[in-house]
This record gives sequence, C-alpha cells and structure tokens, in this order.
Amino acid sequence: MSGWNSIPELGALVGEEIRLRGWVDRRRSSGRIGFIQLRESGATVQLVISRKEVDEASWEALQSATQESTVAVTGTAVADPRSPGGVEIHVSSLALVHGADGYPITPKEHGAAFLMDHRHLWLRSSRQRAVLRIRSEVCQAIHDFHRERGYYLVDSPILTPAACEGTSTLFETPYFDHGNAYLSQSGQLYLEPAAAALGKVYCFGPTFRAEKSKTRRHLMEFWMVEPEAAFLDFKGLTELAEDFVVYLAGRVLEHCAEPLKLLERDTSRLEAIRKPFPRLRYAEAIDLLRGQGSAIEFGDDFGAPEETSIAEAFDRPVMVTHYPTSLKAFYMQPDPDDPTLALALDVIAPEGCGEIIGGSQRIHDHDLLLSRLKEHDLPIEAFQWYLDIRRYGTFEHSGFGMGVERFVAWMAGVPHLRETIPYPRTMDRIYP
Ligand code: 4AD
Ligand code: MG
Repeated sequence: MSGWNSIPELGALVGEEIRLRGWVDRRRSSGRIGFIQLRESGATVQLVISRKEVDEASWEALQSATQESTVAVTGTAVADPRSPGGVEIHVSSLALVHGADGYPITPKEHGAAFLMDHRHLWLRSSRQRAVLRIRSEVCQAIHDFHRERGYYLVDSPILTPAACEGTSTLFETPYFDHGNAYLSQSGQLYLEPAAAALGKVYCFGPTFRAEKSKTRRHLMEFWMVEPEAAFLDFKGLTELAEDFVVYLAGRVLEHCAEPLKLLERDTSRLEAIRKPFPRLRYAEAIDLLRGQGSAIEFGDDFGAPEETSIAEAFDRPVMVTHYPTSLKAFYMQPDPDDPTLALALDVIAPEGCGEIIGGSQRIHDHDLLLSRLKEHDLPIEAFQWYLDIRRYGTFEHSGFGMGVERFVAWMAGVPHLRETIPYPRTMDRIYP
C-alpha cells in the first residue's frame, strides 16, 4: 500500500488498513496499553496501542512519543461511536519521526503573554484551530458572495502615497526619491476608479492602522474586505451590507458546526442574524443612549461602551446611519435633506463585538470633493488621480469595508481579536 490517509476521510475507511502521519496531541499509557490522540489535517483521532499486538520497536516509539512529537502509524480503522469522528485506530505499528523535547505549551493553564510569545506553536491547540477554521470559511464565503453577485476582485495597493482614513494612524516607510510612502489604511480610493471600469468590484487584503490603542478590538494589521459599486445609492448600500452579513453568518453555521461546538459557541445567537437589521439614525442612537442614562452629546463619536449599549437594545446587528459629517471621512456624500449629515453607515454587531462594517455613499461632485480635501488639510496634488474620477464621467457610487477579524471574533465568540488572525500585530508586539 502506498500513500497516506488523512483523519477526515477515516469515517469511510472502517475495517480497512490505514496509514497516518501526524503529531501527538496527548498520550497516556500503562504497562499493557497506550493511547495517543493524534492530530493531522486539523483533526484528531485516538490511536490504541496494545503491547501484545505490536512489535518491541512500536512499543518503544510509544514511550518516546512525547507531546507534539511527529509519528507515523499503520493500523485498522475501527468504528467507535464514543469518539468525535466515529473512528479509532487499532495500531499495528508505530514509528517515531521526530521526538519533541519539552514542548512549552502543556495542558496546564498559561497566561496570554506566554501564549502570544508562542503563537507559532499555540496555533496547534484545539481552540486556535477552531478559530482558524472559522476564519478560513469566512474568507472563502467573502469571495463566493461577491462572485455570486457579479463583483470582480480588484487588488488595491498596499504602498500608497497618501492617507485614506485620517492622518493619525499612518505607518510610514521611506520610498526611494519620492519621500515617504504609507501602508494602506483601506483600498477604497483605488476601488472607486475600478468601479468605473468594471461596475461592481471588491478588494480583500491586509490593511494597516497605527492605532495608538491597546483595546481588544484593534490590530495594527488586519484584513478588510471592501465592495464598491457604480450607481449603487445609499439605500442599496444598506441592503448590500445586510445581505453580506446574513450570507456570511449562514455559511459559518452551515460549514463550521464542529469548530463552533468546540468553542462552545451559543449558535442560537448566530441563527438570529436575520433581515431586516434595525436602522437607526445617529441622532436616534444618541437619544437611545441618553435615555439609558448616558451623558453623550450630539456630535460625540461612539466608543466601545456606546456601541455595546446600542447593540444590546436589539436582538440582531444594528445599522447606524446619517452621522454628522464632522465625525466621518472626507469622501462621504452629504445627505441631500441635511448636508451636515453624511450618508454613512456603520453596522454594529451584538455581544459586545462593536462596529464590524463602516461605509458610505461617496461624493461624486468634483468641486465638493475638492473643498472637502482642503477642509481636511489633505495634499491636493496626491489626490489628483482621485479627483479625475469626478472629472471624467462621474457617477453615483457607494461601498463599505468589513474587518474580517471583528467578524470572526463575533462568529467564534472570541472576545480578543488577537486570536482571530494567525499572527496578530498589536501595539506592544511584533514577535513572532
Ligand atoms: O470604518 P473604517 O475605517 O472604514 C474604511 O476604512 C472605509 N474606507 C471602508 C470603505 O468604505 N471601503 O474600517 C472598516 C472596518 C471597521 O468597521 C472594522 O471592522 C475594521 O474595518 N477595522 C479594524 N479592524 C481591526 N483593527 C483595526 N484597527 C481596525 N480598524 C478598522
Ligand atoms: Mg469606522
């Protein structure tokens, strides 16, 4: 027999001889019988090693197979209704590929700093594997959602000549004879021109914010998905955001039952993510907060506590719209009924997850956009290309951005974003 089997396929191989290579998650043994929880392909299966059924070399391999050692095994797949995959392996031979010595992450409790220092190893734990699987599903679903609706993937650059979302969170890097370049805070400005080329477009990639905050909801490097569509008005944008969230949550429920169970996620909270989401104007959200006893004033921005209070008033995600222009980015279209307000939307997720989506209709009038750039003290020269979109066949258009880690944290029920990205970049850490 050649080739190696994988754990997810074992259910179909009951009674057959199989071969596996993987890592020792856990091991226990007595004088006559030993058990290894073997990890492979993100799953685990129990190996049963009976001293009288294996040769001496296999029994010795069991004694040397410390936690996280790599082993190769031959055995028979046997139905076992008590095990998660419905199968265990009765081993006929076991070989040690590499004996791991003193694996630092033991089954006892470790502090967050220790685990973050060992992030490269921590990824192997069942909880981290479950979160990574949910993230993988969310990322795939993001592409599928857009493809199904005729959106084209357009990659936006990471090195950019100017700010997109405010100048206070820019990462700078020297760029040859051109002064400084900045790591992208959003691909949006580059998608707007692409919308004139392809109609409906999206980008999905790493995004950088030098946020001088150590909250559990901020990363320096995160992944943002951003759809942008020509001739999409503000109402259409709110519907797109709603459809997107419902679609992604549905995919997680459909394909991630196992990781959700492992994380002990209360899935009834995810099943409640249904259309329509309540829509609340910023002014109404202020009234709601003041009614709850908050001292917030019209014109103040929401922090995490305000977002949590707003979300708790509803049983599903909430859309807050029509923010004062002073709180929002320079490119947002003013409300025709009250130009002091922006046609902006934020989607706030429940369970303390806060803002997961921010978006708006964009200013399509050249002169208005130019005056906003000036008001925001942005370098006009660097934005000539962006103004060109309003010079040559301007068009109404809208889009939003969603932070993948915030969405995954919500789905997985994980409070801190550092567990939702393989290698988190936070203010106090860039290792490993
Ligand atoms: O609201 P933001 O800043 O919007 C934009 O950047 C727009 N240009 C997007 C667009 O319209 N195309 O960011 C969008 C989302 C937030 O709602 C949040 O989910 C996430 O990006 N986000 C962060 N996630 C993790 N860490 C950070 N520091 C984040 N900053 C924003
Ligand atoms: Mg925002």
